[in-house]
Amino acid sequence: MATVAEGSARISVGSGVFYNPRMRALRDISVLFLKAAGAKGRLLDSTSATGIRGIRYAKEAGFSDIVSLDINAQAARNASLNMRRNGLKLKCLNESVQGFCNGGDAGQFDVIDLDPFGTPVPHINDLLKVSRDKTLLMVTATDTAVLCGAHSNACVKLYGSKPMHSELCKESGIRILLNFVIRSAAQFNFGVEPLLSVSDMHYMRVFARLHAGAKEALESVKQCGFASFCGRCRSFSYAKGATPLLGAECGDCGADTEAFGPMYLGPLYDKRITGRMTGMAGTMDGAGVLLSRINEELDMPFFYSIPRITRTLRMSSVPMGNLIERLRDKGFSVSRTQFDKDGIKTDAGAKNVADAIRGLGYDQGSAH
Ligand SMILES: C[S@@+](CC[C@H](N)C(=O)[O-])C[C@H]1O[C@@H](n2cnc3c(N)ncnc32)[C@H](O)[C@@H]1O
Repeated sequence: MATVAEGSARISVGSGVFYNPRMRALRDISVLFLKAAGAKGRLLDSTSATGIRGIRYAKEAGFSDIVSLDINAQAARNASLNMRRNGLKLKCLNESVQGFCNGGDAGQFDVIDLDPFGTPVPHINDLLKVSRDKTLLMVTATDTAVLCGAHSNACVKLYGSKPMHSELCKESGIRILLNFVIRSAAQFNFGVEPLLSVSDMHYMRVFARLHAGAKEALESVKQCGFASFCGRCRSFSYAKGATPLLGAECGDCGADTEAFGPMYLGPLYDKRITGRMTGMAGTMDGAGVLLSRINEELDMPFFYSIPRITRTLRMSSVPMGNLIERLRDKGFSVSRTQFDKDGIKTDAGAKNVADAIRGLGYDQGSAH
């Protein structure tokens, strides 16, 4: 059995029990999120494997009332052993999310962590049954190829949305996942307030607060809609609503556009929470870098991937700093984005971004 130290936990990893050290930054972010959101009460770690999350939430975020589950008997034994070794009076139940949530005596939880293999879709409805007003949901998806449009039909089948397979795919994947959570929660008369979304490596994770009420559910559903994208000049537009009118022609260059969705089109972040998290993370490896980028990001849908635009303009690359400065000088808001290291979020629009790139005058016509 390998022994691993992570945060203030020290755990053993049994053979056949899942533990991925590369997901540490995401677990760090989850601990910071719970602290920054002032979360307390009953916590459900619904897919616990080694028990690492529950153990860290207990030792680092002050939770004592924790239920951990794993469908795999070996994992449940391993997690229970780890909890004892970390001095916690907790154990992991060898139960499925479905069995536990429909068993009748689960009660309600204030925080629910879902970190499954692949898609979270088969678990969301059951977890909503053990939710209540103000429950915090933390949901991971690792089926990013589906959400990012490499398997478009699978996304339509699982999430009910047509995914984007372009430079916008990670952000639209997050927004499709949130649309799914919102639609599911609406069946139980919960509205969903997204507080933080993270896309890194092969995973996406959304953090959201539920608000009980039919009106709240409808308000959240109204934050969803469709986006259209121009594959030629990289322009995009979007509109909320069940059947919004989106032009089939790009408003900037006249090329045919394609529509995608439905997806959530509202804000992704509560900047008070992400600000506190960034402060707490300091120079923490992984989590610190991700959080400071998120905290600086303008909270508006989509971005411009600059190399895509310079290629269309048949120009060589432009220094990002100069471009950002130029757009800001013209009075536009601009930020970098977690979704693309070469991308900018801005209210300038595709045409002004292209003009600013041209204005920088780098090597017109020489690049391909
Ligand atoms: C990706 S691992 C969880 C990793 C863990 N949360 C961590 O941070 O290291 C997914 C776990 O969910 C368990 N699992 C799969 N389906 C389940 C279900 N329906 N109910 C409960 N646990 C399930 C698997 O046995 C596996 O241990």
